[in-house]
Amino acid sequence: VRHLLGIKYLKRSDLDLIFETADHFKEVLARPIKKVPSLRDLTIANIFFENSTRTRLSFELAEKRLSADVINFSAAQSSVRKGETLIDTVNNILSMKVDMVVMRHPNPGAGIFLSNHVKASIVNAGDGAHEHPTQALLDAYSIRERLGEVGGKKVVIVGDILHSRVALSNIFTLQMLGAEVKVCGPRTLIPKYVESLGIGVEYDLKRALQWCDVANMLRIQNERMDMSYFPTTREYTRQFGINKALLDSLEREIVIMHPGPINRGVEITSDVADSSQSIILNQVENGVAIRMAVIYLLASKIK
Ligand code: CP
Repeated sequence: VRHLLGIKYLKRSDLDLIFETADHFKEVLARPIKKVPSLRDLTIANIFFENSTRTRLSFELAEKRLSADVINFSAAQSSVRKGETLIDTVNNILSMKVDMVVMRHPNPGAGIFLSNHVKASIVNAGDGAHEHPTQALLDAYSIRERLGEVGGKKVVIVGDILHSRVALSNIFTLQMLGAEVKVCGPRTLIPKYVESLGIGVEYDLKRALQWCDVANMLRIQNERMDMSYFPTTREYTRQFGINKALLDSLEREIVIMHPGPINRGVEITSDVADSSQSIILNQVENGVAIRMAVIYLLASKIK
């Protein structure tokens, strides 16, 4: 496999290898010198057509920790604004002897399209509402770290499933690792495809939280909505937001996750996001090791 376009294209053995490799890189990242010389001969372009904080910085750091040369491209400050196409943009970047492209793009399937038209190895850093494979890998890795394993665990993904690439990649990853998955949210934000994936749907947040070991709270993706999918934000928060009183009312401790960015006070209150049950910042920390593993393993296929 030369690309990472989606979890859908991976096998269980790929996930196991990525996690084993990430374990090694977590050890590296715990050392005083957090850098290895593995990819001194690799040049990577991070090209972002959508805003990002975590994914972009995490990829850049992962690449630098592996000693790769890195260039960063932001569409907003580029000649894309003058009408240059995606393929022309990437081919121009590749002509500067770039080996790998990490791309975030608002269009679902943009990475797949690019992989069919250019010679470099492509890593999908989020394509519209389609997939966000490295997010799902770091999410599952963080569950494994907190609970010992992913297999057999009950995970509920809460919120705007319809517009979420995190949800789809998480569903594929968690199912492949043997977890039981449910989604929970307003009927208008649960896509039809969930039925075909064999996952449960819950419309009552408290029931979903009572069932699960892990709750992954998603942000409402207003930027992908062309209409209102629920009455008001306050109404959404009342029905699908998690707060400390709700968390404390459960019979057992569950693990709280969020891919970020958080809308504090909407899908999650600060006292939950910052509680000891939350692994939100562990997710971000693990993102570097996971992305080091992904880049290292892909580089071995192209060198
Ligand atoms: N989780 C995530 O993709 O965050 P960013 O949009 O900040 O990269």
